[in-house]
Amino acid sequence: MTLDDVRTVCFVGAGTMGCANSLVAAVSGYEVVLHDAQEDNLDAVSARHEGIAAFLVQSGYCSSDDVAAGRARVSIVADLAQAASNADLVSESVFEDLDLKRQIHRQLDQVAPRRTILTTNTSALLVSEIENVVRRGELFAALHSHLGSLLFDIVGGPRTASSTIDVLRRYVLSLGGVPLVLKKENRGYVFNAINGPLLAMAMTLLLRGHATRDEIDRAWMSDRGAPLGPFGMMDLFGLDVILDSWRRPSTDSSREALRAEVVPFLTQYVEAGKLGLKSGNGFYDYPAPAFQEPAFLSAGPSPQIASEALLSTLLGSAVSLVANDVVTPEEVDLAWTTATALDVGPFGILDQLGIEPFSEILQNQLAAGLLAAESVDLCLGYALGLGLEEGERGETDPPARRRAGA
Ligand SMILES: NC(=O)c1ccc[n+]([C@@H]2O[C@H](COP(=O)([O-])OP(=O)(O)OC[C@H]3O[C@@H](n4cnc5c(N)ncnc54)[C@H](O)[C@@H]3O)[C@@H](O)[C@H]2O)c1
Repeated sequence: MTLDDVRTVCFVGAGTMGCANSLVAAVSGYEVVLHDAQEDNLDAVSARHEGIAAFLVQSGYCSSDDVAAGRARVSIVADLAQAASNADLVSESVFEDLDLKRQIHRQLDQVAPRRTILTTNTSALLVSEIENVVRRGELFAALHSHLGSLLFDIVGGPRTASSTIDVLRRYVLSLGGVPLVLKKENRGYVFNAINGPLLAMAMTLLLRGHATRDEIDRAWMSDRGAPLGPFGMMDLFGLDVILDSWRRPSTDSSREALRAEVVPFLTQYVEAGKLGLKSGNGFYDYPAPAFQEPAFLSAGPSPQIASEALLSTLLGSAVSLVANDVVTPEEVDLAWTTATALDVGPFGILDQLGIEPFSEILQNQLAAGLLAAESVDLCLGYALGLGLEEGERGETDPPARRRAGA
C-alpha cells in the first residue's frame, strides 16, 4: 500500500482525539468514517466538530469553506464492522485501557480489509503490548497525536513493515502535520517523556517544601517564555487525567516513592471536583487564573532551586531519549517546539548554556536530593558525548547544526 491508496480513514472512538483527528483528515480531503460504542457520543460529533472547526479556522489551519467541504466527507457509523469495511487506514482512539485496545484491534483485524493499516493513538501503552492480537503485524503501528498541535509520533512494533511507517509519515505530511518517526518504542514517545518528568519535578518541589505553586510556575514561565507553568499545564490537561497516569505502578523506584505522595495530593483535588480548566478550578481558578495576571511574573524572583530543578529535568529527560537511541537531538527539539510552540528546544537550551553551567546545576540538584548520582553521570556523560564542549555558552551556531553540516 502507498499513500495514494489511502482514501478512506476510519476513526474508532469519537471522543476528544477521535473528533479532532477525524476533522483534520476530512478537511485534508480524506473520506472519513467515525465510530463509537456510545450512541450519545456519536450524536455529539457534529457539535464537537463545530468547536474544533472554529479552532482550526482561527489558528489559520484552513478556511471555513474547507471545513464545510470536509464535514461533507464525514460519515457516522454505529457498527464497527460496517465502519471498517472500506477503510484503508484505521486510527483507534478509545479509552486508554490495554484490554480494551487489544479487544478492539482483535476485532478490527477480523473485520477490516486485509490491506488496511491499523493504528493506535495510545499515549502510554506500547505497540508491542497490543500488536500480538492482530495477524497483520506488518500493518500495525502507533500514530499518536497531540491535542492543539500538529505533532504526530509514529512508531512500529516488532513486526511493523518500514513501508507502513512510510505511509503513515506521508499521511501526516498530507495533513500538514509534523511526523516524528521514533527509532524504537518509548513510553510517552518524545514530548510526554520530557513533559511528564517536568510535571513530576514541579510536584516534588511543592510537596517537599522547596517552592510554592506560584514560585514554580513563575520560574518556568519567566525562564522559558512560556504562557503556562507546570501547574497551569496540569490544569489544562485535567487533574483526573494526570492522577490516572500516576495510579499505574512503575518499575522506577524513585517514581514509586513520589507516587505515594502524588496520588493522595492529586486525589484531594479530583474528589473535590477540581479537575482544572474543564471544571472551572484546579490548582487555579478559571476563567481568569492568577498566572494570567500581569503582576504574576513581576511578583519577585523564584528560588534558584526551582528554576534549576525544572531546567535540569527538561535537559536530563531530553538527553536520556537520545542516549537511549529513541530519536536524535534535532528530533527532540522539533517535538518540543512543535508541541509547545516555544522557540527553543532542550538541545538548543543546552547548546546556549554550555557544559560547565549545566554540570554546576546538576551538582546543585544532587546536593539538594532532587537528582540521583546516576542521573547526573548519565546527563554529563551523554552531553559530552553529544559534542557539547566547555565554553560554548551563548554561541549562536549550535554544535547539532554544525554536525549536520548546516
Ligand atoms: N486527550 C488527549 O490529549 C490525548 C492526546 C493523545 C492521545 N490520547 C489518547 O487517545 C485515546 C483517546 O483519548 P481521548 O482523550 O479522546 O478519550 P475520550 O474519553 O475523550 O474518548 C474515548 C472514546 O472512546 C469511546 N470508546 C470506548 N470504548 C469503545 C469501544 N469499545 N468501541 C468504540 N469506542 C469506544 C468512548 O465512548 C469515547 O467516546 C487514549 O488512548 C488517549 O491516551 C489522548
